[in-house]
Amino acid sequence: MFEQELLSIVKKISPLAALQTPPDDSFGDYSMACFFLAKEMKKSPVKIAEELASSIKKPDFVERIESKNGYVNFFLKKETIAETVLSRIISEKNNYGHSNAGKGKTIVIDYSHPNVAKPFGIGHLRSTVIGNALVKMLQATGYKVVRLNYLGDWGTPFGKYIEAFKLWGSQKELEANPIKHLYELYVKYNKEAEENEQFQEKARNWFKKLEEGDKDALKLWKLFREVSLKEFMRIYKILGVDFDSYDGEYSMKDNVDGIIKLLEKKGLTKIDKGALIVELEGTPLMLRKSDEASTYASRDLAAIKHRIESLKADILLYIVGNEQALHFQQVFNVAKKLNFKQKMEHIKFGLYLDSSGKKMATRKGTLIMLDQVLNETIALALRLIKEKNPELKNKEQTANDVGVGAVIFGDLVNDRIKDVVFDWEKIVQFEGDTGPYLQYTHARACNILAKASPGKPDFSQLKEDIEKHLIIVLSKYPEIVAHAVTDYKPHILAQYLLETGHAFNEFYHACPVIKADENIKNARLHLVKAASIVLSNGLGLLGIKAPAEM
Ligand code: ARG
Repeated sequence: MFEQELLSIVKKISPLAALQTPPDDSFGDYSMACFFLAKEMKKSPVKIAEELASSIKKPDFVERIESKNGYVNFFLKKETIAETVLSRIISEKNNYGHSNAGKGKTIVIDYSHPNVAKPFGIGHLRSTVIGNALVKMLQATGYKVVRLNYLGDWGTPFGKYIEAFKLWGSQKELEANPIKHLYELYVKYNKEAEENEQFQEKARNWFKKLEEGDKDALKLWKLFREVSLKEFMRIYKILGVDFDSYDGEYSMKDNVDGIIKLLEKKGLTKIDKGALIVELEGTPLMLRKSDEASTYASRDLAAIKHRIESLKADILLYIVGNEQALHFQQVFNVAKKLNFKQKMEHIKFGLYLDSSGKKMATRKGTLIMLDQVLNETIALALRLIKEKNPELKNKEQTANDVGVGAVIFGDLVNDRIKDVVFDWEKIVQFEGDTGPYLQYTHARACNILAKASPGKPDFSQLKEDIEKHLIIVLSKYPEIVAHAVTDYKPHILAQYLLETGHAFNEFYHACPVIKADENIKNARLHLVKAASIVLSNGLGLLGIKAPAEM
C-alpha cells in the first residue's frame, strides 16, 4: 500500500528511482538511493539526497524524511499506518490482496498433464503445484482462468502398451495396480524392441490402427486411460487440486488435419524423408511421421487453435519443465506464422535433485511413486503432531494438511527456474523455512484469538518498533501478490510469507497480548487478527491449507 504511493512519488523525480527496505530501522522504513542521479544532475549523491529530503512533499502516512550518505530515508507514522493497514485487512478479510487487474481477460492454463499408463512423476508434481498456485493467484487478480489437465493420452507409446498388454498383460493386475502393471509391461516391451525390430513395427501398426479408430485398439486404450485417470484423481484429491477439463492429446487428434491444411495453404510445409515438417531456423518441426502418425507438436498446434477459438483465451500458459523449451519455442513460432497473436508463454521449471545432486526423476530405473512420497510426509507430520500436541482432535486431517503443505511449500519456496535439492525430512519440520512453520505460526495466531475477542481498538497503543515492522510487512501483501502474478513466480509470495512468519514470531515473543493492559491488548489483538488473515490468504493462494489448530 504505502510502498506503491512512495514509489509513485520517487518515480516523478526519475523514472529509474527505486525503493528498498533498509537493513536497519535507523535508516527509515523505506529508502531511495541517489547515486544514479549524480551524473545527470552534476551533483554529489549526498547533496542530492539532502535536497530531495527537504523538498519532497510528505504524504500523511510519512512522519519524516531524512537524508543520510546519499540515501533519502522515509520514516512512516506508526499510528496512521496501523490504523490504515489493520482496518483494511480486517474489513477485507479473505479478499485482502485481491484485485481486478485481470478483469475481462481469459487465461487458459495447461498444467499437471501426466502421461496415461505412466507413473505420476516428480515433474508432474511440480507442474501441478506451480500451476495450482498460479491458478489461485490469477483468479485473485480478477482473471477468468480455464484449468486444463492436458493428459498425455495419445502418441506412439500407446501402440506399445496395446501389443505388450496383448502379449503379457493380466486383467487382474491391471485392476489391482494399473500404472505399475502397465509401466512394467512398457519397460519389458522396450527391452524386447531393442533387440527385435518386429516389436517396433507391431507397436507402430497398433498406433496407426488407433488413429484410424480401430475398435479393438480403442477399447484397450480407453481402459488404460480410465484406470490411470483413477489413480491420478487419487493424487489430486490428496493435493486438493482440480481442473475444468481432463481432455488430453487424444481430444486433438481430429483437429490435426485442419491445422496441417492451414500450414499447407501458407506454403509452410515440406516433405522430408517421408515425414511432413515445417522448416525452422535450426531443428525443423515434425507434423506427421513417415507412417502418417500425428505428433506431439501437431497436436499442440491444434490445441492452440482450439484454446484461442473455442475457449477464447487471451493468454495461454504452459507449466512444463525446462527440458521442453525447444518444443514450445518451435510450436509458438509456428503458431505465430498462422497469425495467432495471443500471448503464449512456457512457464518453465527445473528438476528435483536428490541430496547428492543427481536428477531425482529416476531411481533404480523406475520413477518414484508420488503417492509414496506424500504418504511418507503425511506420516511424518502425524508423528510430529502426536509428539507436540497429543490432545489435538482432528489429528489425521491436520497431518494430511501439514504433510501436503510441506511438499507444496517445499517446492514453491524455490524460484521455479532453478533445480531444487529436495530433503524430505527437512521440509516437514515445524522450524526453519518450511510450510509447516507457517501453518504453525498461523495456528499460533488463531490460538491467541480463540482466547479473547477484541473490543474497539486504539491503534496509538501500538508503540513498539517490532509492531510497526510487522504492520509494514502486512501492508506489502497486495503488491507482493501482484508482483508474483506478473512474473508467474509463486516463490515471491512464498518468500514473503516467510518474512511475515518471522515478523509475527518476533512480535509474539516480544509483546504479550492476552496479558497486556486492556487497551494494548485490544490493539494487539487486531494486529494478530490481521497477521492471521495474511498468512491464511497467502497460504491459500499457494494451495496450502491453514488449519486453526495443529
Ligand atoms: N504430458 C506431457 C509430459 O508429461 C506434458 C504436456 C504438456 N502440455 C502440452 N500442451 N504439451 O511430458
